[in-house]
Amino acid sequence: MKIRFEPCDAVIGARVSGLSLETVPSPETFAEIDAALEKFGVLIFPGQAISPEQQIAFSEVFGPLAPTERDPARLDGYPEIFVVGNTRDQPVTFAPADPGGELEWHSDHIHRKRPARASLLYALDVPAAGGDTLFACMYQAFDTLSATQQAHYEQLQVIHSPAGLRAYLHGQGHQTNPDDYRTGKEDEVVWPLVRVHPLTGRKALYFGNQVSIGIVGWPDDEARDFIARLTEHACQEAFQYRHRWAVGDAVLWDNRRVLHAGTPYDLKTERRRLHRTTIRETEPIVAV
Ligand SMILES: [Fe+2]
Repeated sequence: MKIRFEPCDAVIGARVSGLSLETVPSPETFAEIDAALEKFGVLIFPGQAISPEQQIAFSEVFGPLAPTERDPARLDGYPEIFVVGNTRDQPVTFAPADPGGELEWHSDHIHRKRPARASLLYALDVPAAGGDTLFACMYQAFDTLSATQQAHYEQLQVIHSPAGLRAYLHGQGHQTNPDDYRTGKEDEVVWPLVRVHPLTGRKALYFGNQVSIGIVGWPDDEARDFIARLTEHACQEAFQYRHRWAVGDAVLWDNRRVLHAGTPYDLKTERRRLHRTTIRETEPIVAV
């Protein structure tokens, strides 16, 4: 069956038909999906029914997987799977507590020494209301800056830290285990604000509005203001695709060219459970 990519009504995203994630793709099929992943940023595979083993096998074709380090989020027996949602003892959510609250835009694992090139989320339980995932196109975010801004931003080095995530989660009233997001300087990583996609050479902004805590050489308050203003531009609605989850949806995205953010849902009355596999970067992050 031929694979079809149907673009979403947004600057990013495409729905994919003619492909089951139960099967490990051939090298030719992998090349087709990988090219489409860069082109569309987000690929939606509706109507899937896959086991953890099948999700892992499909994901590993894209590269080595990052093991889940947080105990409450690890699927028993499957360290490659990170369980997002509220079906276990401790909710795993990176969303505001209330509608209209501040989102947590990010690229997965940007605060790690080896970030994620791509992520795959598979939905097992979804809320009746809320719990969407927003994606924003960082090619568009860069391309729509002025030439002066582009030249300036290409010089900037951004500091990322799990401390930024922890502060956000505390601020939203979510319980966190201090061991999950340590705050030492040794946990900080620095990446260029503008990165080049290795497949195409296109430039994309690379940051998160909570996890990015500073800019090298800048006072902290100026860096925070800059990141807040940059988020307003980069993650504006016109650059977004909103995914409203259905059970059986698998969504694969390219962390090198999109940011994403979860929207809130009622943690007490709704049920949300998604399995994520996280594919590591295998190439250096370069600015030009
Ligand atoms: Fe994420």
